[in-house]
Amino acid sequence: MTHPGYDLLARGGVPVVLAPMAGITNRAFRRLAREQARAATHGAATGIYVTEMITSRALVERNDETMRMIATDPDESPRSVQLYGVDPVTVAAAVRVLVDEDRADHIDLNFGCPVPKVTRKGGGSALPWKRGLFRAIVRDAVTTSRETARAHGREPVPVTVKMRKGVDDDHLTYLEAGRAAAEEGAAWVALHGRTASQLYGGTADWTSIARLVEELEPFGIPVLGNGDIWTAADAARMVSETGAAGIVVGRGCLGRPWLFGQLAASFTGRAVPADPGLRDVAAVMRHHAELLVEVLGPQKGPRDFRKHIAWYLKGFAVQREIRQGLALVDTLDEVDAWIAKMDLDQPWPGAVSEGPRGRTQPGKRVALPDGWLDDPDDLDGFLDDIRAAELDVSGG
Ligand SMILES: Cc1cc2nc3c(=O)[nH]c(=O)nc-3n(C[C@H](O)[C@H](O)[C@H](O)COP(=O)(O)O)c2cc1C
Repeated sequence: MTHPGYDLLARGGVPVVLAPMAGITNRAFRRLAREQARAATHGAATGIYVTEMITSRALVERNDETMRMIATDPDESPRSVQLYGVDPVTVAAAVRVLVDEDRADHIDLNFGCPVPKVTRKGGGSALPWKRGLFRAIVRDAVTTSRETARAHGREPVPVTVKMRKGVDDDHLTYLEAGRAAAEEGAAWVALHGRTASQLYGGTADWTSIARLVEELEPFGIPVLGNGDIWTAADAARMVSETGAAGIVVGRGCLGRPWLFGQLAASFTGRAVPADPGLRDVAAVMRHHAELLVEVLGPQKGPRDFRKHIAWYLKGFAVQREIRQGLALVDTLDEVDAWIAKMDLDQPWPGAVSEGPRGRTQPGKRVALPDGWLDDPDDLDGFLDDIRAAELDVSGG
């Protein structure tokens, strides 16, 4: 019997996953990326597109903004929601909401967030170090999904794990956490080949992904590789160098949602479409802005669009006045007016636009609760910190 994680991967048609990115992978962006994959494969494949991370406690409390963040398009399949949480009880309660109310087909758990505000309290990428707590969260999430689904006569919603290599090179957790996730019934394990202390600096260590593939081979569970996939060629290389069953793509698609078209084409054996010239990029930008207005409303939509401008225009010759104007738009009409001022007859700039983009911070010492690393089995004294880590977080 194949592992259920492969069934989940197969639902996307291609083993390509849009990485959850806070502030980016809202319903508008997911639709934009999905459309690209569908167009490039004539509807044959889409991939899997994960929401921004959702704080478990906010979901349990039914915060309005959180309920908006988990909303999906009618044609979104599977509906993938990422949960962030540190308390097994709260994470399980959030899983119950999603499964009981049939709001997701896939639940991903975030154990990779390196944001100091989160790790300082023992959350995100600091959490797998406390191996008992990590295991309890995965186990309770999987069990709750199974039991809640059974009460409705449905199949369990698969629960997956996304993590980094560890806290730092002296405190690696990925092999042990990977085994624990497999034992507790996770559907897949996705590994970002960096430690928390590396943030987004340097290059991702793909050998750690290969190592995890080897380690989890006896469990039959798929391992997905994440980190520094900027092109379809990188994706193919990730698979061939690591043996990963699928890939997770984050920053490479910022300002380049057509990367999902290229990836879907590549994984289905089609010719990979070329990157677009500025005229087509501008059309994608306009469409993205329009989708953001539809999803976030006429006020928030254009404002949210502003953060994408520099990524879309990277490498093109566009005057500073236009870039700055676009980075301050309040309406779709303003987007149109600035695009109209561009010289749209420009080809794709090439390699300059195909490397690192988005967060690239070099590493630094990880902020942790005092004494966190002393003993992986000691949780006493950290419980208040851990619970506080649930509050007010975004991004990872
Ligand atoms: C702006 C931004 C927001 C992110 N938010 C999340 C998040 O909400 N959940 C998560 O698990 N990872 C988050 N990440 C990490 C990515 O999912 C991914 O693991 C990381 O960027 C490495 O992949 P890449 O090299 O393809 O970008 C975020 C990354 C960025 C750049």
